[in-house]
Amino acid sequence: MRVLITGSTGLLGCALQTQAGADKQLYGIFHPARPLPRALRASQQPADVTSMPEMRRVFEWARPDVVIHAAAIGSVDFAEKHPAQTHAVNVGGTAVVAECCKEFGARLIYISSNAVFDGTQPLYSETDPVSPINYYGRLKVEAEQVSAASGVPHAIVRPILMYGWPYPEERGNLVTTWVKALREHQPQSVVENVFSKPLPAQACADAVWAIVNRNLTGIYHVAGADHVSLHQFALAVAAAFALDPALIQAVPDSFFPQLAPRPRDTSFNTTKMEKELGLHPVPLASGLQQMKAGA
Ligand SMILES: NC(=O)c1ccc[n+]([C@@H]2O[C@H](COP(=O)([O-])OP(=O)(O)OC[C@H]3O[C@@H](n4cnc5c(N)ncnc54)[C@H](OP(=O)(O)O)[C@@H]3O)[C@@H](O)[C@H]2O)c1
Repeated sequence: MRVLITGSTGLLGCALQTQAGADKQLYGIFHPARPLPRALRASQQPADVTSMPEMRRVFEWARPDVVIHAAAIGSVDFAEKHPAQTHAVNVGGTAVVAECCKEFGARLIYISSNAVFDGTQPLYSETDPVSPINYYGRLKVEAEQVSAASGVPHAIVRPILMYGWPYPEERGNLVTTWVKALREHQPQSVVENVFSKPLPAQACADAVWAIVNRNLTGIYHVAGADHVSLHQFALAVAAAFALDPALIQAVPDSFFPQLAPRPRDTSFNTTKMEKELGLHPVPLASGLQQMKAGA
């Protein structure tokens, strides 16, 4: 099976490559502005997902059976401050990818987000109505609609808060931020009234491959096992990496008034993931131990 991964140097893009079965022939595109200092499993080409000519060239090169569209601007705060640019990439780029899938007869796996929910009524199932409260979340809803309206056979994967080691010079995540700061003995103020079910990027990749391998369509929520506050998450990171928990101070989300609004608790019900994909949500302690072992 020939599979094209967009955002192939991103956190999920890299995990998709390490978790792919040997039967997959992988093709990846990465942002043209990004260097490629380390080899990856997929054959790689630079391409901007917002450019139809570039993406047609990529599809002619890869001739994919399946496309996993993971390229996006992933920063909630960047999206709020740069709405036109983020719309062009997160919605416009998805429209280009979906159109190419239609032209070249490929299936589409669109990577969406937990940010489609307002966080007031966890645990969220795939059938719950969307209700985003920030611009990033509204764009994820719009891009889901673009995927659905394309007429291409597709699945929508909504990962929750992911963690793992990023590719060199790619953006970090909460775990890498905390590990770095705590190793440098910098105190950390961490929100105690925002909750999640943190997800190792590899576990998300396993869910995507299960969807690809079973030829599934529809929406899938993917999350880890433990339902924790961000403060509890930070304490678990300190414990796993043998760092000083006394540096971590619990604060309310009102402590960061400059940030774009965050939903309080978008945690997922993972029944569909468990039953249809045959996957057990990964406990936080084991996900962090695996990450530590991979450091
Ligand atoms: N990480 C999470 O906790 C999380 C949670 C829920 C959903 N998601 C979603 O899951 C997907 C993957 O997330 P991730 O954490 O792996 O993101 P990531 O690490 O930020 O990777 C996204 C990749 O897309 C690339 N990209 C951005 N604009 C592009 C463009 N115009 N053309 C080509 N490539 C472009 C980025 O390149 P540059 O870095 O060079 O810009 C980056 O390599 C995204 O859709 C994200 O919104 C992530």
